[in-house]
This record gives sequence, structure tokens and C-alpha cells, in this order.
Amino acid sequence: MQHKTIETNVTIYSFDELDKAKQKLINKAKEQVGKAYAPYSEFHVGAAVELENGEIFAGSNQENSAYPSGICAERVAMFFANAQYPEVPVKTLAIAAFTNGNFLSTPVTPCGSCRQVLLETEMRFEKDITILLYGTEEIYLIENVRQLLPLCFEKNSLTL
Ligand code: THU
Repeated sequence: MQHKTIETNVTIYSFDELDKAKQKLINKAKEQVGKAYAPYSEFHVGAAVELENGEIFAGSNQENSAYPSGICAERVAMFFANAQYPEVPVKTLAIAAFTNGNFLSTPVTPCGSCRQVLLETEMRFEKDITILLYGTEEIYLIENVRQLLPLCFEKNSLTL
């Protein structure tokens, strides 16, 4: 029998320690929470995607009275970006969440379905996507989506 430990590397920053481009993307994600449609959960999420060509696309969660029909902010932003520029890799994704009158103090983390979608984009362009998870007390930087989804199922899994 063997035991295997899989590690995820997270670097923790304060807002002021980040470069201007990352600060801008986080601010964009924060702005987007105001555009969420989240009457059921009242959990407002914003996501902003920066492409390699410098374009920025943002999205917010969009809920539905038939709950599973709603969609998370990350997927809205990522699909929006991929739909506009299908040939351009994604460089960075920032996420922020707001509820009960405040941004979360600990960083918001994407759900499993969003991780799977983010992974597809990362693998499609063979280019790491930097993930920025915003919290008022600390910000997590994760260097690529693979770190967020170990033991993943991806397109190569279909052929093995
Ligand atoms: N949500 C997101 O948009 N992103 C996340 O990372 C976590 C959850 C949304 C889905 C739903 O509208 C609400 O937050 C509560 O789960």
C-alpha cells in the first residue's frame, strides 16, 4: 500500500502587496457584486477575467426560482470572455463575494462545477490561469486551476 499527499500552494497577500493589474481586476470583481441577481441566497458574487490581450470581462451570479438553472459568477465571466475571444488565453481570474452588507473576510472559493469549467479553459489554451480569491483580511493567489482541482477529470481522461 502507498500513501500519496497532494498539496495545493496558496500565497496570501494583502491588497497593497499586489501589483496594479491584480488590484484592478479585484476591484472589477468587487464592483460586479452590485450587479448580481441573487434574490434567493442573497450571496452576491463578482468575477473578473483578464485575457492575455488585456481585455477584461466581468460577471456576477445569476439565480433562478428553479435553483439549478442559476449560474455562478465565475462561469458567467469565463464563458463571456471565451465567447468574445475564443482564440485568446485567459491570464487571471479574480473573485469577490458580498453578503449581509459586507465582503467576506476570508477569501471566497469557487464551487466544484466552476473549477471544472476553469480547468477546461486552462487546458484548452495550455496556459496557467492565475486565480485571485478576495477576502477583506487576506487575498489568496493560486498559480493555476490544476492546483484547485487535483485528481481532475479532463479531456485526456476520455481516451485512457
Ligand atoms: N456562487 C458563485 O457565484 N460563485 C461561487 O464561487 C460560490 C457560489 C453563487 C451561486 C449562488 O448564486 C450563490 O452564490 C449561493 O451559492
